[in-house]
This record gives sequence, structure tokens and C-alpha cells, in this order.
Amino acid sequence: MKKFKVVFLPSHKEVEISEGETILDAARDSGVEIESICGGVKNCGKCKVKLLEGKLSPLIDEELESISDEEKTEGYRLACAAQVIGNAQIYVPEIGQIEKQGLKRTVAGKTIGLNPAILPYVVELPLPSLNDPTGDFDRLRNNLSERYALHSLNIDYPALLKLPCALREGSFKCTAAIWMEKEILDIKPGRSDHLYGLAIDIGTTSVVGYLCNLQNGELLATQSMMNPQVVYGEDVMSRITYSMAHPDGLEKLHRSIINGLNQLIKTIVEGCSLSPEDILDVTVVGNTAMHHLFLKIDPQYLGVSPFTPAVHQSITIKARDLGLKVHPSANVYLLPIEAGFVGADNVGVLIAEEPDQRDEMSLIIDVGTNGELVLGNRNRLLSSSCATGPAFEGAHIKFGMRATTGAIERVRVDPQTLEVDFKVIGETQWKSESKSVRARGICGSGIIDAVAELYLNGVIEKSGQLKKEQAASRLRTSGEGLEFVIAWKEETSIGRDITITQQDIRNIQLGKAALYAGARLMMKRCGVKKIDRVILAGSFGSHIDTQKAMRIGMFPECDLNNVLAVGNAAGEGAMIALLNREKRRKAEEIARKVEYLELTLEDDFQKEFIEAIAFPNLIGAP
Ligand code: FES
Repeated sequence: MKKFKVVFLPSHKEVEISEGETILDAARDSGVEIESICGGVKNCGKCKVKLLEGKLSPLIDEELESISDEEKTEGYRLACAAQVIGNAQIYVPEIGQIEKQGLKRTVAGKTIGLNPAILPYVVELPLPSLNDPTGDFDRLRNNLSERYALHSLNIDYPALLKLPCALREGSFKCTAAIWMEKEILDIKPGRSDHLYGLAIDIGTTSVVGYLCNLQNGELLATQSMMNPQVVYGEDVMSRITYSMAHPDGLEKLHRSIINGLNQLIKTIVEGCSLSPEDILDVTVVGNTAMHHLFLKIDPQYLGVSPFTPAVHQSITIKARDLGLKVHPSANVYLLPIEAGFVGADNVGVLIAEEPDQRDEMSLIIDVGTNGELVLGNRNRLLSSSCATGPAFEGAHIKFGMRATTGAIERVRVDPQTLEVDFKVIGETQWKSESKSVRARGICGSGIIDAVAELYLNGVIEKSGQLKKEQAASRLRTSGEGLEFVIAWKEETSIGRDITITQQDIRNIQLGKAALYAGARLMMKRCGVKKIDRVILAGSFGSHIDTQKAMRIGMFPECDLNNVLAVGNAAGEGAMIALLNREKRRKAEEIARKVEYLELTLEDDFQKEFIEAIAFPNLIGAP
């Protein structure tokens, strides 16, 4: 097969690739990251690139849906459709490049009771002699049994390899790191309190690691990165599809998260002058698909009814079996899974937020491509998952992007002039305060703000329709219908106006209606008329203006003082499970206690959903 050279600009990365492979394949091979929300099935239009030199396969029909006539003449193509038929030079525009900047993460400063799975035991063993030639491990085990009542201990193979030298180096005084009073994972000469653990939250979009000292519970460092699997598709379904459509798809997805995590581990330990081998325990949360891909379990059955996972209960596995570069004996504990789309991340949220410990009725909303909902109190807990669509994460929105640098995250509209002011992630000032502010696109919280502001100022009707008679200079008709300009060309870094289209508003309506209808049905099932607390979790939750979210009806009415954005509660749950083994038991218990409500099987879902599409006026808006 013929090979051709593809060079990407502005990075100047180049790769040799076989004839017939796509530009997206070439980008993945060369490490150039191109936004590919649909995973390369040619329907998101986000992977546009420009051909600067050379030739590509002819334009196909699917491309014409996303590429305007003007772009066509400039040489724009969809990277996932255009095939290599000769040497080519390709320009990746800024909007198509995946932003590597870490996402904003918060972990509430709660006190977590310290009771880690690994404890250090210091022993001083009698010296061996001709009269007492007992083997090293037997000697250690006997002593631990007598002194600490630790009977039937095992030793992991790498620890056994270290044992003879470690004992002699410390003159038979040593510290044994023992997991759950069952297995010796490490031996250090003399006394050592060197015990560290890592909690990991594998989100569909971003991954966060929390490095903790297991001796005192201190959080030493937090490190986040983009989930490297995004190049295979931005949402769960497109990654499942990728793994099914490619013979090596599962292997690639698994490898990419493991390699990414190894990089994250290296960075986080180096920042604390530690080494990866210092990490002796790891806990992991993630939605069910991320959980399966991390373990290299085929995720295909998660994507079809009845959405059965390979396993519900928690799993403990050796890090080395996954290729995770930490201590060679370290265990990885994955929190249990609730139901198909309600995964270990949600269990993490539950052990962090503990709605089951309260009398008040809490509604927890974890917004992502799927909205995961939990409603309940100490008497009953109900969970469900609703397809909000990816609009809240910026996908299927004309200028949508994830919540990273350059994304418009806040919008305000002047009620008199309908002039727009906005704030972008990475800048402290609003556009009206600084001329240097430039937007690249708009993220979920920015879209919510924009839609809420336009609705409250009469530019959007209750039905969601943009009002034609609004003589605002920003309202105009484009090829795709009515749209409202949020940022003028000169206020952006992409050389085009950033707008909110009628279709964008429609997508937000569908997403918020799914959440609202889901919450209403759960309330009915629980027999409650009012919610006492609303908890918004996830990175989206930490950027969102809770008041605006309520104004457009993302969740049922609640006293605004009791609406809390808690940030990454799933990651916090992973950290809690790392520092307190009792919470692992609790996670297991709560995962079994939660009743799962399959919304699509509920008779009233369609009715509730349709009723929730309009914009309500919940708290005395004009
Ligand atoms: S259209 Fe190419 S990745 Fe979605």
C-alpha cells in the first residue's frame, strides 16, 4: 500500500500514513488533537481542517451539511471524511484544536475520617540462627500474628522479592505495609511512614488525580488532564461505537487512558518530590463506560437495552495488571456501579454528599452528556439517568466548546439596549472591562446564561422562539435561520461572530426538559411535592449560575439558598474511599440501596418532557 506524508500546521507535526486513511487517523497517529465530538461518524461538523497543499479524496455529501460554500472554496474539509491520496499539508484551525488546559476542579474541604486500606506495622524480629533457621517470611508472619493478631497473612510477590534484603538492611527491624490486614504489599527496613495513595476520577471529558498521604490524610496535590480518549469520540456512545467498529478499538481506548494516567501520575508525584512507586493504593470512580474501558472490558452491551454492565460490585485489581505505573504491589479499587448508565462516579457523589444521612429531600444533579439524578433522603434513594444530549457540554451548539480557556462562561444582557457583555474562562475581567478579552466559543454555563438572559429580556419567547420583531441589531437571519450575536468577530479569536442560533436554543430546551421531567417523575415516585436541597455536581456544576439554571427550569423549584454547586463530588468520593476503608463498605451498601428508575419505561415521561420544554418563569422574573 502506498504511503504519503501529512504535515499539520501550526504544530508542524508530520506523519506517514497509508493511502485511504483519513486526516483524522493521521492526526491521531501524529499526536495532533482535533475536536471530534461524534467520534468520526461525520455528523458533528467539529473536525473541520483546511487543505493548504496537496490533494485529498473528493468531497462527500455528509461534508456538505457542515461546510459552507465559502469554506468549501477556502479548502475546508471534515478531517474524519477526507482521505489521504497524496502528500498533504493541513491547517488545523484554533476552534478545532483540543484545549489541553486543566479544568476547574474543587473539592469541598470536608473532614474525612482516616482509616485507609493500608496500614504500616513495625516489627523487630528475632535474628535467625542455626537453632532457629525459620524462613524470613514465616518469621515475619509469626511475629505479626503474635504482636498484632494478624493471622493468615499473604505476601505479594514483589514484596517477597524485597524481603530478605530489607530485613537484613534494617537488622531485622522493618515496617510492613499491609492491605486490609490480609496482604503484605511492601517491606521497608527500619521504621517508615512513607505511605501514599492516589484517588482518580475518570470523567468522559476530563480526568483528575488526588495524591494523598495515607498516614495523615493530607491532600498533597491535585492534577487534571483532558481524557485522552476524546480523540476517539467526545461522548460515551461514540467511544463505545469506536470500540465496536475497530478490531483494535478497545485496546486503543484502554491504552490511551492508561498511558494518560501514567503521565498524570508522573507529573503529580514529581511535583511532590515523590516517585510513582511511592503510591501503594489507588481508588477509581468513573461512569460505567469509563470504568469498563479502564479495565479493558468490552463496553458494547452498555450501549444497548437493557444496558447491562459486566459487573456491579466493587473491584480490586493489581495496578500492574492494568499497566498502571505505581508501586508494583499496589491495588486499584474501583467503586461499585449502580445501573447501566449510573456508574461508580455517581456512587462517589453519594458517599461524598450523603443524602441518605439526612431527613431533607435532596436532589443531586450531575450534568454531563447524561444527566444523572438522585433524589431522596434517609428513607429512600432513587436514581435515574436521562439523555440531556451533549448541549450542556457545548456539543451540538454552533459555537459550543468545552469549559476551557477562551470559552464564554458568563453572559449578561443590558435590558434597555440589549447590548451583551461576557466573560471568558482564563480571564478575570469582563469584555466591557478589558479590550484584550477574546472568545473562542461558548461553553455550557455560557449557553445557559445567554439563553436565560435573552429569555428574561424578552428576546426569547416562552416557547423558546427568538422574537423576530425584536429590533435588536444583534438579531439576524443566517442560512440556518434566526440567530443572536453574542460576540462580534473582533471580540473573538476565531475571526467570526459567535452566535446563539434557534437550533442551539432548541437543544438547550431538550436537555433541560429531560432533567426537569426526570426530576418530576422521581418526585412523583417518592411521593414528594417539594425539594429541600438541590446539589449541582460535576465541572459544569462548578461554573454554572444556579439562579439562571433555575430560571430556565433545569430543575424543580427550590429555595435558592439551598441550591449548591459542589464541584467534583465524584472525585471527592474517590478520595473518601481512599482515605477511609469503611466508606468502601458504605459505597457497596449505598449502591445496592439506590433504586434505579428507568425513565423511558415511565408512562408519564413523554408528557412531563413536553410540558417542560417551554421556559418557565419560576422566581418572579419579568
Ligand atoms: S464530523 Fe468529523 S468528527 Fe464529527
